[in-house]
Amino acid sequence: MLKSILCNTLTKSTRFLTSITPIASSNHQTNSFSNHVSNYGWQIDKYHIDEEFKQDQLIFNSQMKQPIIYNPNDLLIEVKAASVNPLDLVMIKGYGREILDNINVITQITKCKLSYDRFPLVLGRDFSGIIRNVGANVTKFKVGDEIWGSLSPFKQGSHCKYIVASQDELSLKPTNLTFEEAASIPYAALTSWSALFKFGNLRIQDAKNKKVLILGATGGLGTFTVQLLKSFGCHVSVTCSKDANEFVNQLAKLDAVYDYRNLDKLFMEKEGYFDYILDYASTSTVDDDSKLFRLLRNNSNSYYLTTRSPLMKNADKNGFFIGLLKSLQSASEMTINSLQMRTNARWAFYETNQSALEYIRKLCETNQIRPVVQQYFDLEQLPLAYQTVYNSHLRGKIVIKF
Ligand SMILES: NC(=O)c1ccc[n+]([C@@H]2O[C@H](COP(=O)([O-])OP(=O)(O)OC[C@H]3O[C@@H](n4cnc5c(N)ncnc54)[C@H](OP(=O)(O)O)[C@@H]3O)[C@@H](O)[C@H]2O)c1
Repeated sequence: MLKSILCNTLTKSTRFLTSITPIASSNHQTNSFSNHVSNYGWQIDKYHIDEEFKQDQLIFNSQMKQPIIYNPNDLLIEVKAASVNPLDLVMIKGYGREILDNINVITQITKCKLSYDRFPLVLGRDFSGIIRNVGANVTKFKVGDEIWGSLSPFKQGSHCKYIVASQDELSLKPTNLTFEEAASIPYAALTSWSALFKFGNLRIQDAKNKKVLILGATGGLGTFTVQLLKSFGCHVSVTCSKDANEFVNQLAKLDAVYDYRNLDKLFMEKEGYFDYILDYASTSTVDDDSKLFRLLRNNSNSYYLTTRSPLMKNADKNGFFIGLLKSLQSASEMTINSLQMRTNARWAFYETNQSALEYIRKLCETNQIRPVVQQYFDLEQLPLAYQTVYNSHLRGKIVIKF
């Protein structure tokens, strides 16, 4: 009901807004193709709920709609490289549709944005590229700047040649990285940043000597976070598959490496030891969260943070409101459980953060963080790149070259 009222209102406002002229700035240098780009890329035309991933679910469109700057804070970007995240794969199956659609309807109305129609849907969060046009209020960037960034999951994605992003979603690209290397970092990096600093209340000035355990050090989030924490002077232990031992030891000097299929040694050795546990594993091999909470120091500054929350799944399965209630119940149970052990447990989520991107750019430029890429694919091979992420067991990121 609420949704249909919002949709009707939206349709009316959309009709009105289509008569508005796009807002590109006349104060900034533009180039000849900035307002008339021919866009192309990969899309899905529906959700494939209850289906296994198949490469032909992704459709190449050589004549995609031209992205237009309607918001004065937005920029037009020519994408040079992007990465594939596990989120892209689950979004094909409709992951997050209930929450994304409801939030989308509300933000479209309040911010007067246009692209309410979800389909065709372009996936992809990270991007690196060159600014081709800027909105009237863009002050931080100019046409021709080489940038990197990531798009909010509420927006159309980056697996196409031209995108419109807000100036807050990007920063200048690290000068020492290629476009392809740069595109491997932002989404995973900002998710990890938000886990540590927003949900885990860490402060950079307090990070030195913190003892951190990363569950799942081999994927996009893990490989970045090992390096980030080492740059702060933390003591880092990790779990990974036995065959990845050499790989993780090449990332940084680690305190300990545990095989995730046999965690007995970890549970015996490290009770009450860690300040943070970051759960970035794509699957869990721990049957009871309390076992993990016991590894944390018993104080209010220790945190178990996980990026695997049931929030989206609950909403997709049970509808927006019941799904939220179910999630609230799970969150309360986890919180009570952790508080009984005098520690904290939280779900963590990606968040756009320009100052974090700036900070990470400097870490890259001083070689404290290096991109970790398992494989590069050309844009034409994008379905194959998705297949590689779908097959899982990643060692770093999968990157698309445009
Ligand atoms: N909440 C958010 O906003 C948000 C944002 C980004 C990502 N995420 C989620 O965070 C997780 C990590 O993301 P990612 O991009 O790093 O994924 P990824 O690149 O697919 O990496 C996941 C890694 O986890 C390892 N793994 C699987 N099961 C494990 C276990 N039981 N213990 C330890 N390691 C295990 C895998 O290694 P093996 O080959 O050895 O299996 C793989 O290398 C995913 O579940 C993703 O969906 C959430």
